[in-house]
Amino acid sequence: MAGQYHEPPEELPSGLRDLTRILVSLKEEIEAIDWYNQRIYLAEDDQVRSILRHNQKEEMEHAAMALEYLRRNMDGWDEALRAYLFTEGDLVAHEEHVTGASEETVAERPGRRGEERAAGLGIGSLHAGTLNGSTQNKEGQG
Ligand SMILES: [Fe+2]
Repeated sequence: MAGQYHEPPEELPSGLRDLTRILVSLKEEIEAIDWYNQRIYLAEDDQVRSILRHNQKEEMEHAAMALEYLRRNMDGWDEALRAYLFTEGDLVAHEEHVTGASEETVAERPGRRGEERAAGLGIGSLHAGTLNGSTQNKEGQG
């Protein structure tokens, strides 16, 4: 499906195309969780609501599996998930603790947040041609 790509897919290595597949799958699972949420809220029949809740939990399992695949196979996810999952309290305050910067401090340094976000998404490493440690690149060298 060419529609899921923002760059010419034939120029992307197969490992990166698999990452696109799992990222799109994660997006679809999360979308399904949202749709079930809305259906559960409006369902009038208790049995219908129960089935929808069951199905929604299965979508959460699917999303968690996709996320774990990304943690194992795409640079940046392991670090980000270890920093934020299963924490308590205010997440923005936690981010300031993790990055050692307040929103105001970061705002004073234009460009830094974009670089951090790119690093968190593994974009920087993909540009460098690495898929979580692999040295495969566009030209197939290495
Ligand atoms: Fe699913």
